[in-house]
Amino acid sequence: MNPVDIIIKKRDKKVLSQEEINYFIQGITKNEIPDYQMAAWAMAVLLNGMTDQETTDLTLAMAHSGQMIDLSNVIPIEVDKHSTGGVGDKTTLVVEPTVAACGLPVAKMSGRGLGFSGGTLDKMESIPGFRTNISEDEFIRLLKTTGLVLAGQTADLAPADGKLYALRDVSGTVPSIPLIASSVMSKKIAGGARAIVLDVKVGLGAFMKNLEDARQLSRLMVSIGKLSGRKVVALLSDMNQPLGNAVGNALEVKEAIATLHGQGPKDFTAHCIEVACHMLVVGEKAATLDDAKKLVIDTLQSGRSWEKFHQLVVNQGGDAAYVDDPEKFAQARLIETVPAPRSGYLKEINAQTVGETSVELGAGRMKKTDSIDPAVGIIIHHKVGDQVQKGQALFTIHANDEKKLADARKRLLGAHLWSDEKVDPLPLFYGVIQ
Ligand code: URA
Repeated sequence: MNPVDIIIKKRDKKVLSQEEINYFIQGITKNEIPDYQMAAWAMAVLLNGMTDQETTDLTLAMAHSGQMIDLSNVIPIEVDKHSTGGVGDKTTLVVEPTVAACGLPVAKMSGRGLGFSGGTLDKMESIPGFRTNISEDEFIRLLKTTGLVLAGQTADLAPADGKLYALRDVSGTVPSIPLIASSVMSKKIAGGARAIVLDVKVGLGAFMKNLEDARQLSRLMVSIGKLSGRKVVALLSDMNQPLGNAVGNALEVKEAIATLHGQGPKDFTAHCIEVACHMLVVGEKAATLDDAKKLVIDTLQSGRSWEKFHQLVVNQGGDAAYVDDPEKFAQARLIETVPAPRSGYLKEINAQTVGETSVELGAGRMKKTDSIDPAVGIIIHHKVGDQVQKGQALFTIHANDEKKLADARKRLLGAHLWSDEKVDPLPLFYGVIQ
C-alpha cells in the first residue's frame, strides 16, 4: 500500500477499504504523509464523496489516532455540543456557561476558524491571557471544581483530524459531507462525550448550502454516533445571514458578554436558549424541553450564566478586567459605519460574503501560518425582513488597513439585497434529527 495509490483510487471514484483508510490516517498521524498528499486526497474526497461505511471507518480511524478520553470517573455524563461552522456563531460562549450553571458539567474541546467560519478558540483568545492549551490534570481539576472547561484540541486528541482540519482550512476542502462528519464525530468520540448536540448550520454562510445536504450530514453524524454508543441529536439551524450582529473575534466576545447580561441580539439569544435546552435534555438534567427552557431562562436572567463565564475566564488565565469592561478590548484603528444606500426591506444578507470579508479584514486565516487580528470585523445592524430607511446605519466595519476597509465596504454593500415588497424574517431552526 502507498499513499499515491490511495489518492488515485479516490480520484477514480472507487471505494476505499477500511485497511486503506487506516493506513492513510496512520500515515497522517505519524507525519509520514506530506501536506500536498493530504490536500490531494482531501480534494479527491471532496469531489468524489465517500460511502457511509468509508465515512464511519474514517471517523473511527481519526478518533483512534490519539488518546481516547474517558471522563466517566470525573462527571456523571459528559455532554458536548458542536457546530458545523457558521458566521457570527459565538454560541459556545453563552451556551456552555449556561449549561454548566444549570448544574450539568461541560468539558468543551473547541476549534479554530475554518474557511469563512469563525472558531471559538480564536474568539476566546481575544481575551488577553486566556489559555486554551490545558493539560489533562488541569482539565480534570477544572471540570471537577467548576464544571466548565474550554480547551483546544490537544496534540493527542484525534491528531489526524487536527492536521487535516488545518490543511482543509487553506486548501478549499472544507465543504465535504464525509470530511465534516468524520472531523466533528472523531473529536467528539475521542473526547469521551456520551451525549452530543450537533448544531448543523445550513444556508449561504454554512458549508451545507441546502437543507437536503444538511439533513444528510446530520443523519450521517447521528448514525456514526449511534454506532459508537453515543446519544446524538442534530439541530438544523439557519445560517443564511450571520447569527447575531457581530462577526470578528473580539466583537463576538463582546456580543456574547452582552447576551450573558441579557442584552444580546434577539436571534442569537433565542438560538442559545434552544441549544442549551437540548443539551440539558440529552444530559438528563431536564426531563423535557419545556422544563429545560424554564431552567435556562432563569439561569440566564439571574446572572448565573455570566458568573460561570467569568469563572471560566479567570480559571484559564484570562484578564477579567476585559470581560468586566469590554471597552478595554483591542479596538481597530478604522471604524466606519456605512449607511443604507436605499430604503426597502432586506431580503438577503449573504453570510458567506460577510464571513469572507471578515477573514479578509484579518479575523481569519488565508494560510496555515497566518495570525489573527482580534480587533477587526463587522457589525451588521439589521436582519433579513427588516424595513430600513435610506441613510440608516447598515453595517459598521472595524479595520486596521485602509485598502481592506474600502474593499470590505464594497463587498458588504453587495452582500445586502433589497426588496420593495415585505419580506418574512428567516426562521432560526429547520428541524431536529434524533
Ligand atoms: N467543524 C469541525 O470540527 N470540522 C469540520 O470539518 C467542520 C466543522
